[in-house]
Amino acid sequence: MIDDLIVGASSPCKELKRLIKMVAKVNTTVLVLGETGTGKELVAKALHSESGRKGLLISVNCAAIPSELLESELFGHEKGSFTGADKPRAGRFEQAAGGTLFLDEIGDMPISLQSKLLRALEDKSIQRVGGNKTIKVDFRLVCATHQDLSLKVDRGDFRADLFYRINVFPIDVPRLSDRAVDIPLILMKILEDFELFSETSSSANSVPTFDDTALKALQKYSWPGNVRELKNLIERACVLFNGRSINGDHVKNNLLKIKAPEYSEESSALWDAAADLVGIPADQDDTSVDLPLPHPNHYKDWFSYFDNIDLRRHLQDIEIVLIEAALENSAGQVSQASGMLKLRRTTLIEKMKKLAIEKPFA
Ligand SMILES: Nc1ncnc2c1ncn2[C@@H]1O[C@H](COP(=O)(O)OP(=O)(O)OP(=O)(O)O)[C@@H](O)[C@H]1O
Ligand SMILES: [Mg+2]
Repeated sequence: MIDDLIVGASSPCKELKRLIKMVAKVNTTVLVLGETGTGKELVAKALHSESGRKGLLISVNCAAIPSELLESELFGHEKGSFTGADKPRAGRFEQAAGGTLFLDEIGDMPISLQSKLLRALEDKSIQRVGGNKTIKVDFRLVCATHQDLSLKVDRGDFRADLFYRINVFPIDVPRLSDRAVDIPLILMKILEDFELFSETSSSANSVPTFDDTALKALQKYSWPGNVRELKNLIERACVLFNGRSINGDHVKNNLLKIKAPEYSEESSALWDAAADLVGIPADQDDTSVDLPLPHPNHYKDWFSYFDNIDLRRHLQDIEIVLIEAALENSAGQVSQASGMLKLRRTTLIEKMKKLAIEKPFA
């Protein structure tokens, strides 16, 4: 299910899932764009699982494979086509038959291979290295990159014709800071996964909990490394705060900033590993502890979750709840309740009539 793969209920995340569902069923080529760690690979997985295609999802990271090996990796080879090719081998295109071929980091595809790739995409057929047989392959293509491909085209590092061939249906994966309201949900999912992992491993680790101030601090951070950076932070939190409660100060001083907590000597290696993190700006230094009650400011995020609000109805609902609570707390004494609500007694009585609110204990 797409919701199990891509966690989030913010409006950018809902839009992302809507696009994935729309395009998954047709065979259109998709280009997944987005900053590092936003979840591009996850989008490719979701596209494949929603497509209903029976074959496999075959992923190739074009940046991770040396360019001289990439051609035979993608197209396969015949026996004896080069030194060491002692057996014929099907390439990734053939393995993706009936399924999805995911070309990750397509921006790093060597220019020398780009024309061959273009031909394969146009003809839906390939030739193995050292072979002369044309092999038809039915694959669905998904590409991803964090680079600006049109800039690469302008610079002559990427073929314009290949760019237009793969840029059929672009999907932009939002930055984590643009969907900060999703952070508590994603955090819960990641902690659940860690919990499952520690249950199955022999270690006696238990995951920490993040209180409201901790969640606030996480939501204010800029997350240049997006969800991957959040995941790394949570992993560090599990080690440093095993089973304990984490507050906003812990997040700012021990998890986001590179400062080893005093009690731990051995964790310096851990902080070295976190050297990619940047500190949070000064304006994020909010240490106030909030009561667990809604604050008008919380409504600022409303349109991250919903497209609209029935404002009059919503305000009326709040009015009803508060009037009933005041009456309840004043044992049904209208004058006392009106004082608690800073209303005149007659105004409260009018409101109770209009909103059909009965006195409790009547
Ligand atoms: N919406 C999400 N819900 C849960 N986990 C997510 C979400 N988005 C990303 N992740 C997790 O964050 C990590 C990074 O995701 P992924 O590898 O898909 O990012 P990417 O965009 O491909 O990054 P890169 O550009 O660095 O390759 C993964 O562990 C992934 O499971
Ligand atoms: Mg990736």
